[in-house]
Amino acid sequence: MIYLDHAATTPIDARVLDAMLPWLKEGYGHPFSLYVIGREARHAVERARERLAAFIGARATEIVFTSSGTESCNLALKGAAEHLRRKGHHIVSTAIEHQAALKACEALERRGFEVTRVKPDEDGLVHPDAVRAAIRPDTILINVMHANNETGVIQPIAEIGAMAREHGIVFHTDAAMSVGWIPIDVEKLNVDLLSLSAHKFYGPKGIGALYVRRGCRLQALIDGGGQERNRRSGTENVAGIVGLAQACECAEEAFRRGEPERLRTMRDALERGIRERVPNVLINGHPTRRLPHCLNLSVMGIEGEAVMLELDRAGICVSTGSACSSGSLDPSHVLLSMGRSIPLARGSLRFTFGRDNTLGEVEQVLDVLPRIVAQLRALSPVSEW
Ligand SMILES: Cc1ncc(COP(=O)(O)O)c(C=O)c1O
Repeated sequence: MIYLDHAATTPIDARVLDAMLPWLKEGYGHPFSLYVIGREARHAVERARERLAAFIGARATEIVFTSSGTESCNLALKGAAEHLRRKGHHIVSTAIEHQAALKACEALERRGFEVTRVKPDEDGLVHPDAVRAAIRPDTILINVMHANNETGVIQPIAEIGAMAREHGIVFHTDAAMSVGWIPIDVEKLNVDLLSLSAHKFYGPKGIGALYVRRGCRLQALIDGGGQERNRRSGTENVAGIVGLAQACECAEEAFRRGEPERLRTMRDALERGIRERVPNVLINGHPTRRLPHCLNLSVMGIEGEAVMLELDRAGICVSTGSACSSGSLDPSHVLLSMGRSIPLARGSLRFTFGRDNTLGEVEQVLDVLPRIVAQLRALSPVSEW
């Protein structure tokens, strides 16, 4: 199998699993218990908090562990909006967010908030000026994702964050797609809130975190025993938290050995090969402001789903659009908002590389993809393909 869908999820790193196992076996103490195994679990959680904080340039007290990227986005958006309800009712978000933020914003609209969704340009970039134009006197919250999960386009978060600060508006970014793939620093990004998810970068599923800048207040979504400084109750997922911290260490090590450059080389080789061997293909997303492991393209005249299924028969895993919306044949809302036509949005494929991929695998994909596209086009009602 050739796995080229690392933006959907990643395999767990062996070092992450090794770090987690003791906390699933003998280290089962409750982190609130005062006897030895409880204190050890508490110590493991706090050490992990420090490691994650250092990884993104934060303080340990600014980290809230959650169950997922989805929960982090919900806590950030609903928690901040509800806390600020008396100050204003307007939120600025974008048309290209992941379902987690999209649906949280829709829920906030049902609770009486107003949401303006800024569109990206045709390269998938959200312009700071467009965000500025959407700000109103009653705007309390701005939400712009860091890197888009379909195109990999990296948004100008630092500029938008500086603008939000200038206006005294709370700023959240969903960095689930980028944390672990490129270095992230919450200070440089000027964010108040940042969501991330462990399974997106070789950690376990079911654990995420929210960075909450000191002084930024949130209303909790989950009430109970007061864990996570009353911001997210529920007994901590000790093994998951330890795994998340270990995944950060593995990512740091990968950065040190130049993994982003290696990923970029493979991605560019695939992009070049497809351009040379498959006619009528359009690359989706900004040519340079893209995550190094991500390639999204539209194959004109055929459905991305059909190509994906044929690649699957050849043992190659790729995706069409975002993982959460595959299974539905709706065209990608991200590509539509970039001005792509419905047929082009339906013809989209996403390849996302990871640490185990090789240039040899790129060649294998390039061996089968042109044939699959030609066969599907021969069956397509549009004869010129
Ligand atoms: C950009 C983005 N945000 C949020 C999420 C949700 O993360 P999780 O799967 O941990 O709920 C994802 C996962 O697909 C994502 O890509």
